[in-house]
Amino acid sequence: MINPPELIIRNARLVDGTGGPSVRGDIAVTDDRIVGLGDLGRAEGTVEIDAIGKAVAPGFIDVHTHDDRALLIDPLMAPKVSQGVTTVVTGNCGVSLAPLHTSGRPPAPLDLVCPDGEGFFGDFGNYLAALDAEPAAINATCLAGHASLRVEAMDSLDRPATSGEIAVMRQRLEQAMEAGAIGLSTGLFYAPATAAPTEEIIELAKAVQGAGGIHTTHMRDEGDYVSESLEETFTIGREAGVPVVISHHKCAGHANFGRSTDTLAQIERARQHQPVSLDAYPYVASSTTLASARHLGASRVLVTWSEARPEAAGRDLTDIAADMGLDLEATVDALMPAGGIFFMMDEADVRRILAYPGTMIGSDGLPHDEFPHPRLWGTFPRVLGHYARDVGLFSLEEAVHKMTGLPARNFGLVDRGVLDVGAVADLVLFDPETVIDTATFERPAQPATGIELVMVNGRTVWRDGASTGARPGRALRRA
Ligand code: ZN
Ligand code: CU
Repeated sequence: MINPPELIIRNARLVDGTGGPSVRGDIAVTDDRIVGLGDLGRAEGTVEIDAIGKAVAPGFIDVHTHDDRALLIDPLMAPKVSQGVTTVVTGNCGVSLAPLHTSGRPPAPLDLVCPDGEGFFGDFGNYLAALDAEPAAINATCLAGHASLRVEAMDSLDRPATSGEIAVMRQRLEQAMEAGAIGLSTGLFYAPATAAPTEEIIELAKAVQGAGGIHTTHMRDEGDYVSESLEETFTIGREAGVPVVISHHKCAGHANFGRSTDTLAQIERARQHQPVSLDAYPYVASSTTLASARHLGASRVLVTWSEARPEAAGRDLTDIAADMGLDLEATVDALMPAGGIFFMMDEADVRRILAYPGTMIGSDGLPHDEFPHPRLWGTFPRVLGHYARDVGLFSLEEAVHKMTGLPARNFGLVDRGVLDVGAVADLVLFDPETVIDTATFERPAQPATGIELVMVNGRTVWRDGASTGARPGRALRRA
């Protein structure tokens, strides 16, 4: 080091993101890079932090988000920054803010990201340019959504796309990839895409293949037909020659509890022949549009927001139904457009899936919900504090790897996700003894405990329990 580094954090437990054992040492930062690592001895930083008893890790990468619009309208991104998240992958589940020309209220679940057609970006490059012009506190890397493509290209969504429509979607997707999208997301579970046959997705995924992108998918079925849906996902990956990411893997509904032993074995077999990865969030409840109450076989449903009856947010669907004197079906109809939380997973499956070595962590948080699922604020500290430290599901090093090095590799994020000299200084300083989520189903919007300092591109964005106001985030284009 010739010039003194701007910052040295000393005596930290360095958890480098590779999954390897942590070591005690120092880390130096200048500009946006890590410039020193290990025992930095007598080197003096302009600013020095003593981190004895604390851990330093690469900033966490939230691989499954719906933050497309939140980045623009709430750029401090407190729900994410407060957890140590420094990069989000947007545009999941087939739903992306770009590319889509539309007006009026888009069909669910596109309305989860933006309720107003005017808020979508017709051009993917313009969306990324908007992120450049008004940067957020954190980095974003962005997928183009199949449902968004369909809404623009098709006059009715309840049928397969014609070859002409596929050609239009493919051209739009190619433009998005050229602008820097990292791939295609699908949500075959959802109404705008359920009528799409496997071949339609293969044709589109080929456009991504040419550009070196990936395909992430909220599969057609995560319950009774989860095994068939996994096969469909592998087929798409093989036929199109693209890596696939199974989003928020789960075995939904009581009848499917315990099946993750089989689904993970199925995934493991496929991984012998093709690139397959997966993500999960650390909760037994999911959250999406309330209309899904019809399909998910949930034991309990909480309303997260309702356009028709805003006062329903935060209440149990059965209580609302009782008050309204309606059955559950009719109550859902009366509340729509609306969102819900669905208790429909087995804790043993959640643990088995989280512990699988190929599983990355993704929150699937819904930032615009009135009464959001606590995963929005709690996912990463919950994995570190609850599942790694308290339950002992895996080591701290493995937990960090699932949120840093592993996703950086799977999503092709260059120079991120690891502590290394020359890597970008996306960093989180936390207390491994106290880190924990505090967001609950009753009080969902609570920052975690134990996340002490968060840096993005070498700039501090979170310190002492609050945003600093800095917005050094970048829109990361596919390399
Ligand atoms: Zn999804
Ligand atoms: Cu999602």
